[in-house]
Amino acid sequence: MSIGFKVRRSVTTMLMRLSAAPVVGGICMRLAGAFRGPYKDRRVLAHLTRHPYISPRAQIHCARLTVGPQCFIDDYVTIYAHEDGGEVRLGEGVHLYRGTIIEIGRGGSVTIGDHTHIQSNCNIKGFLGSTHIGSHVQVAPHCGFSPYEHSFDDLSVDIREQEITSSGDIVVGDNVWLGLSVQVLDGVTIGDGAVVGAGAVVTKALPPNCVAVGVPARVIRQRGERPPTPSSTGRGSG
Ligand SMILES: CC(C)(COP(=O)(O)OP(=O)(O)OC[C@H]1O[C@@H](n2cnc3c(N)ncnc32)[C@H](O)[C@@H]1OP(=O)(O)O)[C@@H](O)C(=O)NCCC(=O)NCCS
Repeated sequence: MSIGFKVRRSVTTMLMRLSAAPVVGGICMRLAGAFRGPYKDRRVLAHLTRHPYISPRAQIHCARLTVGPQCFIDDYVTIYAHEDGGEVRLGEGVHLYRGTIIEIGRGGSVTIGDHTHIQSNCNIKGFLGSTHIGSHVQVAPHCGFSPYEHSFDDLSVDIREQEITSSGDIVVGDNVWLGLSVQVLDGVTIGDGAVVGAGAVVTKALPPNCVAVGVPARVIRQRGERPPTPSSTGRGSG
C-alpha cells in the first residue's frame, strides 16, 4: 500500500467522521467526495466509517427518513415526501445510484433492506400503498415500482383528475435480481431469490427462486435446475 494511498485514506476517513458534525458536515462530505474519483469510485466513502455517504448533489426532502449506516446516496438521487407521505427507511449499506427517485404521499412508504443496491434512474413510489424491497436485492437501471394506479374509466373527467387506487403494497423478497427496466405494479409480491428478466412487467405474484420474463412476466423455470455457470468473469458493477 503506497504512502499516497494511506494518506488519502486517512484524510477521507477523517472527513467522513466529521461529515455528521453540524455546520462543517456538508463541507466535509463535499471534500471527501473531491478526494475520490467520479461515480462508483466514491462508494468507498460509505465504508470508511459507519456514517452514510450522502452526495451534496442529492435532493432530500423527507421528514421521516431513516438512513442506515454505510449507505451510499449518489449525485442526483431524489428522496421526496409530500406532506401526507409516510416514511422512507433505508437499511444498512443500501446504495442508491444517480437519477433514482423515491417519492411518497397519501400515507405510502418505501422501505429498502440491508445491502440492497438500486442502480441508476429507478423510480420507487409509495402512494396509497407502500413499496417494500428486501435485503441483498439487485435492481438494475430504469426499474419502476408503482403501488398505485390511476382510475381512467370516467370519460367526462381528465385521467389526471381521477382518483388513484391501489390493490396493495409491492413486496420484493430478499436476494432478488431485477434486470434492466423491470416494472413492478401494485399488489405484487416477488418471492425471495427470484430473477426477473430485462424489460418484464410484473403484474402478479412471482414465487421464490423462479426465473420470470416478459410482458406480463411469466415463470420460465426455477433457479437451480441448471448447473451453475462457472464464475470466470467476476462480479458485476453493482
Ligand atoms: C432472464 C435472464 C436472466 C436469462 O435467464 P435464463 O433462464 O438463462 O434464460 P434463457 O437465456 O435460457 O432464455 C429462456 C427463454 O427466455 C427468453 N428470454 C430471456 N430473457 C428474456 C427477457 N429479458 N425477456 C423476454 N424473454 C426472454 C429467451 O429468448 C428464451 O426463449 P426461447 O425458449 O423461446 O428461446 C436474462 O435473459 C435477462 O433478462 N437478464 C437481465 C440482464 C440485465 O438486465 N442486466 C443488467 C445488469 S444489472
